[in-house]
Amino acid sequence: MLEGAHQLTCLQDYPQLSSWREGLDADAVVGLVPTMGALHQGHERLLNTAVDECDLVIASVFVNRLQFDNQDDYLQYPRQFDADLELLQQWGASAVYAPSEEDIFPEPNPSLEDPGPGGELFEGYYRRGHFAGMLTVVRRLFERVRPHRAFFGEKDAQQLYLVKQLSAQLNNGPEIVPIATAREQSGLAMSSRNQRLDGDQLKSAEAIFGALSQAASLFAGGLRDSAMIELAMEECIAAAGLRLDYAAVVDATTFLPATGTRPDSPWRAIIAAWVGDVRLIDNIELEASR
Ligand code: PAF
Repeated sequence: MLEGAHQLTCLQDYPQLSSWREGLDADAVVGLVPTMGALHQGHERLLNTAVDECDLVIASVFVNRLQFDNQDDYLQYPRQFDADLELLQQWGASAVYAPSEEDIFPEPNPSLEDPGPGGELFEGYYRRGHFAGMLTVVRRLFERVRPHRAFFGEKDAQQLYLVKQLSAQLNNGPEIVPIATAREQSGLAMSSRNQRLDGDQLKSAEAIFGALSQAASLFAGGLRDSAMIELAMEECIAAAGLRLDYAAVVDATTFLPATGTRPDSPWRAIIAAWVGDVRLIDNIELEASR
């Protein structure tokens, strides 16, 4: 460890987490960065902001089976706990909560959260049960860690939307801090899943950000017909030979399809596409001027 560097506290179960939490100064601002591990620069950005904005930052590392609609995807999800610990230490986290499945869900059938209408379409449609499982673990983390702030990436825009809704319903729910998507130079959004792409696939995957950028340019140029913007994105994705789940324009305040000519609410263009057997998502805010 570097001289002067702090020691990362590794908490493996709820009793350890509780005694760590009880031992903190009552006025310390606690930040939570929930993760499923396989940390990359996108997480680094979450950690950096959390460290800047909070007195203490705890990250969680837990691959949440409940949010995978596909058992193979759950099994193939990259796991690299030792490397994650090193990164969390370097990035300035004070603690990591890395529970077992039995610790975080001691009950045999945890009752699942209801994501509501904003969780029905897009990821909610293509990954049945994903949001219910995600919100269930996030709620448990909020209840156990009792953070003042929790940090979530904008790459998972629908997740971010739903987590904000969840937190608003809880007593003492944390402030949800959105963090801009970290991108490769090519524009490809950083994701733990990118590890499963070979060189050619990485190149094809660039079309996802290309399509979103095209949507943003059309919008900035004055186009307000969401169907036309969607068509333009579909064409970019098809030209790169990727299989599309959806390319849509949504009202960011409801996460329902955008309609009308956007009188008040912000619009977001969102995409989910397959590169080989790897499914990637990304999104961009549509702004009148870029
Ligand atoms: O975004 C993720 O990595 C996961 O959905 C989260 C928020 C850690 C919950 O498992």
